[in-house]
Amino acid sequence: MAQAPKTLHIKTFGCQMNAYDSSRMEEALGAHGYEPTDDMAKADLVILNTCHIREKAAEKVYSELGRLRELKQQRSSLGLDTKIAVAGCVAQAEGRAMLERASMVDLVIGPQSYHRLPDLLQRGATGERIVATDFPAEDKFLSLPERPIGRGQLSAFLTVQEGCDKFCSFCVVPYTRGAEYSRPAAAILAEAERLVASGARELTLLGQNVNAYRGAGPEGTDWSLAKLLRRLAAIPAIERLRYTTSHPRDMDDDLIALHGDEPKLMPYLHLPFQSGSDRILKAMNRKHTSDDYAELAVRIWAARPDIALSTDIIVGFPGETDADFEETLALVRSIGFARAFSFKYSARPGTPAASLPDQVPDRVARERLQGLQCLIEAQARAFDEATVGRRLEVLFERAGRKPGQIGGRSPYLQAVHGAGPEALIGQIVEVDIVSAGPNSLTGVIKSEFEWREPVQAAE
Ligand code: SAH
Ligand code: SF4
Ligand code: F3S
Repeated sequence: MAQAPKTLHIKTFGCQMNAYDSSRMEEALGAHGYEPTDDMAKADLVILNTCHIREKAAEKVYSELGRLRELKQQRSSLGLDTKIAVAGCVAQAEGRAMLERASMVDLVIGPQSYHRLPDLLQRGATGERIVATDFPAEDKFLSLPERPIGRGQLSAFLTVQEGCDKFCSFCVVPYTRGAEYSRPAAAILAEAERLVASGARELTLLGQNVNAYRGAGPEGTDWSLAKLLRRLAAIPAIERLRYTTSHPRDMDDDLIALHGDEPKLMPYLHLPFQSGSDRILKAMNRKHTSDDYAELAVRIWAARPDIALSTDIIVGFPGETDADFEETLALVRSIGFARAFSFKYSARPGTPAASLPDQVPDRVARERLQGLQCLIEAQARAFDEATVGRRLEVLFERAGRKPGQIGGRSPYLQAVHGAGPEALIGQIVEVDIVSAGPNSLTGVIKSEFEWREPVQAAE
């Protein structure tokens, strides 16, 4: 008798790489008869794909597990079995301790072991509780099934590099994702072709340190990120390329120049600097100064003047004084960001910064964060308002919230909506931006007016 299909629900926390990993897990399990469901209560298998970057992120996992314990009991009273797997960076960081702390968890699986999921679930069917936290990343990418061709996303993620060797003193990523690993160029190109065959028009290349990409090329030499992007841009159906996250140290001349030469490479760059104080940058082990960053921005704008920069900033790093924080504000003011993500420093177990003296009191860090966020919001608003009156190309990706509306993204990653037919979804269309709201821009779709223009009578 054929086995009834099992249902799967994956809840994803954290960064874009976790979103990518969740798709790969879903596909790997799909090949073994697991069907995705949006309703967690209907799932035979629930996977929490977790993030360990800050304490708050990691805590979310335990509150979710509390809810899952009840769900598991309810389903059990109906005679239904529920398996609970914890994947991602909390799984990697906590390993076996998680099984001890959370009795409802059946499987703990780290980011480099996802290719083993189907086998481990089969092994776990007998009730054995399993921990899988092996490195390296190489085996995973070689063993995961090919991406299926079907109806995929218009804008798709593609992991090209994983792990980090930078060891910023506050950060857990080198421990949870392991050493830097770049996938071979041929494997990335093959995956890109499959994503395109599934409908992708925009690719975002992912890596914790994506611009440190050095992957084996088919001709035996290593490819840089610039070379990889150039080759991907030659695929006709790919209309837009992005990459994230970059480290200032690895922004090489070739990559900067590519922003000036390659129109498919979008003019938006996420480039975290973390702090404007050289003293704090040194304690963070960031390997760049505040001036290095400002000079880099000048070089980037020289290659392509309209690049929108975004960044990540930490406030309240141990030892940060008011004067250090002022330097962060000064750098933000002098650069002008289209977007910025700011965080209160969170001491993470096992990282060097967690044991530094002079931890900043929470009240002080909170005040600094508020001040910084005010500045960032004002800059983001100014950036959006400066696009009002401009004509931008928008890749329409979905129906809008209101009937008759469609929504998409500008080259600068701004959300844009406007009245238009759903037939335009999947196309890049010129849009006149007429206003800027807090969450999105409103535009008038130019091509629509062109279609409606009366035909001139021939003379
Ligand atoms: N690889 C990227 C980003 C990694 S994590 C980079 O090199 O910058 C995303 C952001 O989370 C970081 O840029 C940093 O601003 C923030 N972050 C990382 N660890 C943190 C911690 N311990 N406390 C607060 N924010 C942190
Ligand atoms: Fe973390 Fe620094 Fe690596 Fe980014 S570069 S992932 S912040 S250690
Ligand atoms: Fe979080 Fe891991 Fe990404 S810690 S930010 S999910 S790499």
